Amino acid sequence: MLDTVLPDPITNDRPTQGAARLRDQHGRVKRKLRLSLTDRCNFRCSYCMPEHPVWLPKASLLTRAELLRMARLAVDQGITHIRLTGGEPLLRAGVRDIVSDLQTLRSSGLQRLSMTSNAERLGELAQPLADAGLDDLNISFDAIDPDVFETLTGRPIAPVLRGINAARAAGLPVKLNAVLIRDRNDHQILPLTRWALEQDLSLRFIEYMPLDQPGRWRPETVMSEAEVLAVLRTQHTVEALPRSAEPATRYRIDGQDRVGVIATVSNPFCGSCDRIRFTATGELFTCLFAQTGTPMGAQMRAGADDDALTETLHRAVWHKQAGYAAQPGPVERTILMHGMGG
Ligand code: 5AD
Ligand code: SF4
Repeated sequence: MLDTVLPDPITNDRPTQGAARLRDQHGRVKRKLRLSLTDRCNFRCSYCMPEHPVWLPKASLLTRAELLRMARLAVDQGITHIRLTGGEPLLRAGVRDIVSDLQTLRSSGLQRLSMTSNAERLGELAQPLADAGLDDLNISFDAIDPDVFETLTGRPIAPVLRGINAARAAGLPVKLNAVLIRDRNDHQILPLTRWALEQDLSLRFIEYMPLDQPGRWRPETVMSEAEVLAVLRTQHTVEALPRSAEPATRYRIDGQDRVGVIATVSNPFCGSCDRIRFTATGELFTCLFAQTGTPMGAQMRAGADDDALTETLHRAVWHKQAGYAAQPGPVERTILMHGMGG
């Protein structure tokens, strides 16, 4: 398993010095880590949060030093991209310092440090995060109509718009993510697209995945990629662009390369999945749909050394299942989406 690292022939990513690759039993190499900083969120997006969320005890969250150690272990094993997630990562105290800590991993092979956020707190945090070395942001943005936005998230849109502007002013590249749910926000497809084009922002529509509270997701609530394209075509010219290694298929809309669709349900990209996830307590999930995780944070707190943790990481990654594509439909998990980090 601990083979020599060659440059990736497709992405041409730099090999990490002396690092072993994290490879699973289906031959997929892991390059991306999603690191959750907290399970807490100030929003209540229905596709993610239960009505009455129960938060993890604060003492169980990895400390700043533990987060850095986990991230270092992963980078030493060939992870080149880290995305900070939540819940809402900006609710984590000291998020700026965590970003600065992670910068130190650049010399070990980290190439990109990103974050997925709801942007409500970016007004004050965008510039400090950019100064600390954050590379880019994905912002959850499911509607442009203020009333629809508030119904979907439970929060007003104005601070989010301010946050998006602050991120752009700080020079952080921004992508907007819109999860579509039929009869909730599918009527926002055209207004969101128009707004993104006007603002020169990238926008990705995401098919609604069965990852929320049991019973909430239903197959007929998914707006499929084909349906999204049909809606776009009523008002725009739509041309598919060649697929890259990214999960989104990109489309040129009225000549502008700004819109993508992530067809997680109708066309899952499990076959090329290069991701792993750590929850805020350091539980390793090798797939969004995995029923259980590997408690590496607990193993660390019990005194395990780096070699033992690295072995656990390799073993868990090796056993990664084929994924959603092999077993579509809702899954009973021990963890909800806000604890997993999207
Ligand atoms: N389906 C699709 N995407 C989801 N996300 C969270 N829950 C779901 C779901 N059920 C994604 C959203 C959000 C990010 C945090 O996770 O894109 O922006
Ligand atoms: Fe919060 Fe993001 Fe979940 Fe919405 S999707 S409730 S913003 S963690």
